Amino acid sequence: RLTLHLDQPGAAVSPGLYGLMTEEINFSYEGGLYGELIRNRSFKDSAKTAAFWSLLPGGSTSAKATMSLDKEKPVGPALPVSLRVDVTEAGDGVGIANEGYWGMAVRPNTTYKGSLFARGSGGSGQPLSVSLQSKDGKTVFASAEVAAPGTEWAPVHFSLVTGAGVQPTADARFVIRARAAGSYWFSLVSLFPPTYKDRLNGNRPDIMQLLADMKPAFLRLPGGNYLEGNTFSQRWDWKKTIGPVEQRPGHLSPWHYRSTDGMGLLEFLGWCEDLHMEPVLAVFAGYVLNRDYIEAGPFLQPFVDDAVDEIEYVTGDVHTKWGARRAADGHPDPFPLHYIEIGNEDGFDASGSYEGRYAQFYDAIKAKYPQLHIISTVGGKDGLGGRFPAPAGRTEIVDEHYYRNAWQMEENAGQYDHYDRSGPKVFVGEWATREGDPTTNFNAALGDAAWMTGMERNSDLVIMSCYAPLFVNVNPGGMQWRSDLIGYNALTSFGSPSYYAQQLFSTHLGDSIVRLSWENIPTQTQQLTAKDSAAGVQPKKIDALFFSATRDTKKGVIHLKVVNTQGVDQNMMIDVAGAGKVATAGVAWTLNADSPTETNTISEPTKIVPVKYGVRGLGKSFRWTFPAYSIMVMDIPFT
Ligand code: AHR
Repeated sequence: RLTLHLDQPGAAVSPGLYGLMTEEINFSYEGGLYGELIRNRSFKDSAKTAAFWSLLPGGSTSAKATMSLDKEKPVGPALPVSLRVDVTEAGDGVGIANEGYWGMAVRPNTTYKGSLFARGSGGSGQPLSVSLQSKDGKTVFASAEVAAPGTEWAPVHFSLVTGAGVQPTADARFVIRARAAGSYWFSLVSLFPPTYKDRLNGNRPDIMQLLADMKPAFLRLPGGNYLEGNTFSQRWDWKKTIGPVEQRPGHLSPWHYRSTDGMGLLEFLGWCEDLHMEPVLAVFAGYVLNRDYIEAGPFLQPFVDDAVDEIEYVTGDVHTKWGARRAADGHPDPFPLHYIEIGNEDGFDASGSYEGRYAQFYDAIKAKYPQLHIISTVGGKDGLGGRFPAPAGRTEIVDEHYYRNAWQMEENAGQYDHYDRSGPKVFVGEWATREGDPTTNFNAALGDAAWMTGMERNSDLVIMSCYAPLFVNVNPGGMQWRSDLIGYNALTSFGSPSYYAQQLFSTHLGDSIVRLSWENIPTQTQQLTAKDSAAGVQPKKIDALFFSATRDTKKGVIHLKVVNTQGVDQNMMIDVAGAGKVATAGVAWTLNADSPTETNTISEPTKIVPVKYGVRGLGKSFRWTFPAYSIMVMDIPFT
């Protein structure tokens, strides 16, 4: 039996409870959200070869050409290397081809905007041709000519327009062909499809739409190991991620591939603007993944100054130094900002230097921006942050991270019910049920949903949360971290069952928490590992059903969420105590599966999606059956 206590006052629900976390992992931007189609556009992915580029022989057997990386006469400091192509016999046209990120998406009636830097010698003044074509070269989807390059570097812009007859495909490559013998140099070769809201240097519309459908409140940017980098030189150095892309050097991400930094600070902010999210700005805090750190003091100060400058870039008006720089970069209006996070997972810094580093950042930021709320990455109750106490006297919010299996999520779904309310607020800055690969399965969604009921019941304390990792490119080699929320290849994208669980929760959230009580709830029994069984460990029993409820006081609707983790229907009484009137009809959404291992995939993207339907027979006291393996949201009108 479940009772919804409308007769008792409810604490306010945090309006920022559900947000997004982002970092370059699993080809999140490169080959993911960032629209760029050309892989290794600046020829930096390998020091030895032009990775992801190939030389195409001309149609005639006499064609002869070589290609090599060249450091002579670079375009500029951020583009120190170019691709040199020496054509001795052009035949019908010698070419170079880029294979993209596991192919390139080509669609009908679409304009692709391209640009490159080129120079040449010889070439008889013949134009170059550029095209999008099938990987075997047999089908040309779109082509254009660009003027023969001169002897000095110059940018070239072109458009490739596909016709109505083109079938959507990822089986495509980008080709540049020369028709005359000569030497040619290329750098920063770029090709963009239409982007979300037509932003220049923007994002893939299909993935943005999946995110928009979650109605996230904020973006933690950039989070995770990506902020820190393996070494100091590989940290996320925001000043190197702004301005024209040809001035961004890019860097090696800790997830073993290069980031062009085409997705830079202003692009993150544009992403926030497009989805009406607020940035939660994570600043580099002087600790890197190889455990190197800079203690508080004068050597840390340049990093603190960088963080203060970064806040000015985000929020300063055009009369400030960095606000003026943002305006020059194309965005005169400041962005809203309320939260700053100092570092990422600094509980791993066994030296204990975080307390001093945190204090130095905190004091400098608060001195200039007293209105900002500061988040500490240690001091939470999780195994990681909990190694060290929260930095003394200055901790407002702690970031806790949880990566667990479904049982652990369900076992701990009530952990915040018992947290001390007099301490810091909690930001669950990374959490996920890690079951399923590359994206999560339905059992993970059940664990996630159980966990979210706990965050919602306690959203006076848990003011923000975001799942991680958000993205994965599902191609072989695309994943560095399993069990991700949204998967994609070059052409299409899909939400995992966990995605739909989160979407249901975040789009049905009231402004006031409804206190709940329950009794006689069926239980589930822990499945032990063979080792634990052999060691005589006794399996635990926990609840099999999980609940949360919030009310929208303006609309007069209760959003009831019930998670049934077991393979049998559960019938129970629901009492609404203290309501004047409860409608007999409402609306419900159910996300369920026949088996917990079922999932969505790139070829079966919507196998598990919420089903919406009208419900009758509600009231102040009613009986309801919650289907086996299900996550249900019920909107109940009341006065
Ligand atoms: O989300 C994957 C990684 O998990 C993040 O980069 C890091 O913060 C955490 O350890």
